[in-house]
Amino acid sequence: MKELFPIYEVHKDLVYLDSSASSLKPKMVIDAVSNYYNNYSCNIERGIYKICFDATRICEDARQNIASYLNVDSEEIIFTRGASSSLNMVASMLKDILKEGDEVIVSELEHHSSFLPFLRLSKTIGIKLVFVELTPDGHITVENFKKALSPKTKVVALTHVSNVLGYITPIKEIIELSHKNNIIVSVDGAQAIPHFRVDLKDLDADFYSFSFHKCFGPTGLGVLYGKKKYLNMLEPVELGGEMNSTVTKDSVTYKDIPYKFEAGTMPIAEIFGASKAIDFLRSLDLLKEEEKAISLRNIALSELKKMDEIIIYNDTDSSSIISFNIKGVHSHDAVSYLSESICLRAGQHCAEPLHNFLGVNATLRASFYYYNDLEDVKVFISKIKDAINFFKEVGLIV
Ligand code: ALA
Repeated sequence: MKELFPIYEVHKDLVYLDSSASSLKPKMVIDAVSNYYNNYSCNIERGIYKICFDATRICEDARQNIASYLNVDSEEIIFTRGASSSLNMVASMLKDILKEGDEVIVSELEHHSSFLPFLRLSKTIGIKLVFVELTPDGHITVENFKKALSPKTKVVALTHVSNVLGYITPIKEIIELSHKNNIIVSVDGAQAIPHFRVDLKDLDADFYSFSFHKCFGPTGLGVLYGKKKYLNMLEPVELGGEMNSTVTKDSVTYKDIPYKFEAGTMPIAEIFGASKAIDFLRSLDLLKEEEKAISLRNIALSELKKMDEIIIYNDTDSSSIISFNIKGVHSHDAVSYLSESICLRAGQHCAEPLHNFLGVNATLRASFYYYNDLEDVKVFISKIKDAINFFKEVGLIV
């Protein structure tokens, strides 16, 4: 599949194992972004001339394409700056219906973007954050979720897939349980959409957020899916151009959804590209590709497990991620040594509470995706061995 990704022509020896941070982009996506700048380059919605009509139609077709991929209505798809922006919007929208003492269920697996907006609401309006107790190896279970539920629970904000451990939350059962108790559920799908087809109608989440740059699309664009009944009821977070119908000196009426949530000029080139990213995902046999990525990960994992100097943090499930450390070596030192030859992520991956749970200050993360191959695994393992030898020589590993 590497031939579909122009970056491999530029960096012939690239070993890219940081797809959970951002995926590489296929040519068809890059071409779609260029197509906007080369052939349109104008604003959308606002212009009464042909290139504006045409660019507007392409963006609305993109919204429809994305909606049909997710099996929802296009008016329920709001374009945002990315998953972080979508998740912040959910908390900002819900603050109008939350009050002091209401409980919001979160977890230590959450990415900061999922957790921090509700942490702020706990400080500003006095909601109470309730953490689902993780299993010792870091899973969210339905059983533990039930223990977190109370008559005061108003919102559940959980990740669909952990960005550090790769574990999949039993989110469908959690949503069913929540709805039986009239609880609103917001799901962070940033690490799910790149790896499997999500049918949002079937899942029945009330809000679902993700970014395109992790699933072959451009940076700077995400989706906030929201159920019509909530989008119609809740106030827009940002106010500005093209989200209103009438404005006087002392009043405003908003456009219908989704536009009332899209103030200002949208990332138009990115929307062009996102539609092609969806086409690209549609063109793949996702189950097969995911199986392949997981099997590469498992080959790498079994090699790492042979090394006494390696500690693994997510060995208990299938996923395309390995979170690990070289014993005695800070992940930033390790990744600096490795940075010439491979792209790995090091640090806390915007999930500091999870690192506290794991009892480490930082981890290395190798994330495999569909363009990776056995050669990448070989280079990865051989460079890790080199790193271990180097850190032994300098006395960090004893
Ligand atoms: N959220 C991204 C990650 O997990 C950036 O790496």
